[in-house]
Amino acid sequence: MADLVVRPVASDEEAERFLRATPNGMGLPTWEPEPAAWWSGPGLGARFGGVPDAAWFLRERGSLPDRDRTQAAFVGGELVGTSGLLSLELTVPGPRTLPMGGVTWVGVHPTHRRQGLLRAMMRALLDDGHRRGEAVAALSASEGGIYGRFGFGPATTQVRWELSRGQGPARPASDGGRLALVGPEEAGAAWAALHEEARRTRVGEVSAYPGYWDTLAGRDESGRDASRLRVLHCDSAGRVDGGAAYRIPWSPLPEESGLVQVDWLEAVAPSAYTVLWSFLSDQDLTRRVAAGHRPVDEPLRWQLRDPRALRVTRLSDNLWVRLIDVGAALAARRYAISSTIVLEVADAFCPWNAGRWILDRSSAHRMWKHG
Ligand SMILES: CC(C)(COP(=O)(O)OP(=O)(O)OC[C@H]1O[C@@H](n2cnc3c(N)ncnc32)[C@H](O)[C@@H]1OP(=O)(O)O)[C@@H](O)C(=O)NCCC(=O)NCCS
Repeated sequence: MADLVVRPVASDEEAERFLRATPNGMGLPTWEPEPAAWWSGPGLGARFGGVPDAAWFLRERGSLPDRDRTQAAFVGGELVGTSGLLSLELTVPGPRTLPMGGVTWVGVHPTHRRQGLLRAMMRALLDDGHRRGEAVAALSASEGGIYGRFGFGPATTQVRWELSRGQGPARPASDGGRLALVGPEEAGAAWAALHEEARRTRVGEVSAYPGYWDTLAGRDESGRDASRLRVLHCDSAGRVDGGAAYRIPWSPLPEESGLVQVDWLEAVAPSAYTVLWSFLSDQDLTRRVAAGHRPVDEPLRWQLRDPRALRVTRLSDNLWVRLIDVGAALAARRYAISSTIVLEVADAFCPWNAGRWILDRSSAHRMWKHG
């Protein structure tokens, strides 16, 4: 497209235009009749239902991180496409943490779709990541058919599962700790600290993006998700070692009522993990607990008297990863190999990766470019 320019936004005024052009800003499909229960994750719920109000734009403009990491598409001077990279960290086998460009804000105005704007923005994003020495980029995909062509592939898997009341794990008899329902401030700070500790030991985990805990805990004064409850678990010495965010949403449909919807749960001690699930799966006036965005290897299943009681209701891709710098990305992680492996890489979108890469047994974490 002749009059297409892709570049970072350069002023407050452009930042607001950027936000208005994102999928959230333009209005997502509306949810009728009730936007109550059936999403599972922070940040999206109250945005169902059309175009957000002016207060949303002001708040989001204030929190738009790293303006120079945005890539906006202008056609004839009109801002019609949005994208950006968040500076995050990914945990890779070792475990080690690696700088990662988190692809976000991707959207093209409906009138300008299928004319190459995403392709042009992706070019700018990956070139930016490459210049900054980020070995990998990653994203969560709105649809599965979009990002493979740019070299992204599904790298982790997530599940949604359900458990009937009474089928949860038994509460450990001599745990010595305690549970507490807390307010947004306390929850936000404690959850952030828990995630910082836990994510470094679990391959595939990502650091939280700016504002994540404010939204999840309800600290951002948006009034969103006012029904969310926040629980912490402390060990016998009073140290927070687990926490969860959950709701008990109302539904007019009897078959959908009586649900405990868990939006987030993290624990750094096995006993805290068991206590939290035991608590959440036995709430008065409910019939079942459901959790989304959970790992496929959820230990909970093996703590149940009947492991089959944990019913997976959805299995889908989670993180899509793209190696921006094949050598740096593969050298940064550890391997369990007993011989030499040669990888032949063809990469039309990032041609600097093309060639043969040797993974040597004697230095399993080092790679050399070889022609
Ligand atoms: C998805 C979206 C960003 C694509 O933008 P676009 O400017 O229309 O994409 P492009 O014209 O640059 O298309 C690039 C390629 O992707 C393909 N493509 C684009 N959208 C696609 C989709 N939804 N499913 C499958 N392929 C898609 C195009 O056919 C094209 O293929 P090719 O170049 O290999 O022949 C845009 O349609 C959009 O904003 N959708 C709604 C919001 C959304 O889903 N955002 C993604 C958040 S993760």
